[in-house]
Amino acid sequence: MSDRAALEKEWLKRGQVLFAQECKFLRPVANFADMPRTKLSEIAFAGRSNVGKSSLINALTNRKTARVSNTPGRTRDINVFDLGTRLTIADLPGYGFARVSNETKDNWRELIVAYLQGRTQLKRVCLLIDARHGALETDLAMMHLLDLAETPFHLVLTKIDKLNATQREQAINDVRRHASEHPACLPEFVATSAEKGIGIPELRALLAHVARTPEKGYKAAAGGRRA
Ligand code: GTP
Ligand code: MG
Repeated sequence: MSDRAALEKEWLKRGQVLFAQECKFLRPVANFADMPRTKLSEIAFAGRSNVGKSSLINALTNRKTARVSNTPGRTRDINVFDLGTRLTIADLPGYGFARVSNETKDNWRELIVAYLQGRTQLKRVCLLIDARHGALETDLAMMHLLDLAETPFHLVLTKIDKLNATQREQAINDVRRHASEHPACLPEFVATSAEKGIGIPELRALLAHVARTPEKGYKAAAGGRRA
């Protein structure tokens, strides 16, 4: 086995071990000031309503951690989870759903901007793009927000089980193009299907790089200073 293949295998294993840890729901957060004061590195999942954020978190953790809704745009809170006291996961409220008021959109923006600018633990965002639709205007606006906040992000395609091989290739090429146009966008991306388990081990491996050993004295959802 080449060194590179051995290293990839090692990270796949680390990802598997990391996401096999207990995943505890901490709390829903409607105001940035209420974010749990943890010291762990945090990964956030962002994307349009209905893109499959909660489903992907469930597939990664292999359990029904996050709530999958049939009504797009219902989740307005940031839902925070503690993964084995190794890292925290934030399921961000979706955007781009047409049938919401301007007030709701303003509240979303205020919460997300405060979160991206103020959450010092935030190390990585997975920005989910529905493979059937590609990156839409609202996704490009989100990429711009991430660029401005200098938050490194991976583009992650979702629902690729709905595409044939040619369509998948097209979707991946589109994502590569967007990745190259955004300074905060990292080159690694993963095409996934939460439903069929495609790309899940690879995404776990990618995110395992972000996990840190908890600092002494860390307690989930209690105490702790901002990093
Ligand atoms: P909001 O919380 O409303 O922003 O939505 P979300 O991004 O969390 O999406 P959610 O995980 O709730 O999934 C939305 C719908 O897409 C559900 O009906 C899921 O079953 C479906 N879905 C999610 N992932 C996949 C996938 O990989 N393949 C297919 N075919 N459907 C999926
Ligand atoms: Mg959700």
